[in-house]
Amino acid sequence: NPNPKIAPSMLSSDFANLAAEADRMLRYGADWLHMDIMMIRHELSGCRTGSHFVPNLTIGAPVIESLRKHTDAYLHCHLMVTYPIDYVEPLGKAGASGFTFHVETAKENWQELIHRIKSKGMRPGVALKPETPIEELEAKDPVEMVLVMTVQPGFGGQKFMPDMMDKVRDLRKKYPSLDIEVDGGLGPSTVDLASSAGANCIVAGSSVFGASYPAQVISQLRKNVQD
Ligand code: DX5
Ligand code: ZN
Repeated sequence: NPNPKIAPSMLSSDFANLAAEADRMLRYGADWLHMDIMMIRHELSGCRTGSHFVPNLTIGAPVIESLRKHTDAYLHCHLMVTYPIDYVEPLGKAGASGFTFHVETAKENWQELIHRIKSKGMRPGVALKPETPIEELEAKDPVEMVLVMTVQPGFGGQKFMPDMMDKVRDLRKKYPSLDIEVDGGLGPSTVDLASSAGANCIVAGSSVFGASYPAQVISQLRKNVQD
């Protein structure tokens, strides 16, 4: 697969030692640091879509800004929030490198969102929840990067959904040079399915941070994507 990237999900790191955890992952061979930005669902607020938010609250731009002071790493932000557009400016300022939002949250303002992300110097990407088909991406601006969720977004440590590989395969067939990222339940035992379907960017949280030798897991993941 083109351009392999291994991205440990910092959601599984020790947030109280984030700079050291980031450092350690880079030393172990990580290409990108995957930063999960989640906003808890709030059913009572009369929000427009209601279907997207996750039942969790993690980090925001202030944490990205702090981390940026400690590292030059590619900070790949995965936005699991209702209104991603509100985060473009603050994350751009904070020093985020990539800004991946969920297609479910950006039905009307897609073009504007991509334009604004680029104008803030970040690389745009689009994420799909498990129940969202790749057809949602059609008739939209060409995107460089698609993230296929392989668990329901919200938490680390869930079980990989092999059914999602059809989406990866279809995307790879249509777009030979697209960056296709998989996120959720990836590790040495599942990466094979993802890479043979055509994924080239592997996000892995618990399988990396939970390993006795994370460097070994990272190099195993890379080897698998390259082969
Ligand atoms: C889940 C997040 C993932 C998560 C992956 O909503 O998007 O990035 O941290 O964790 P693992 O690899 O443990 O499934
Ligand atoms: Zn993620």
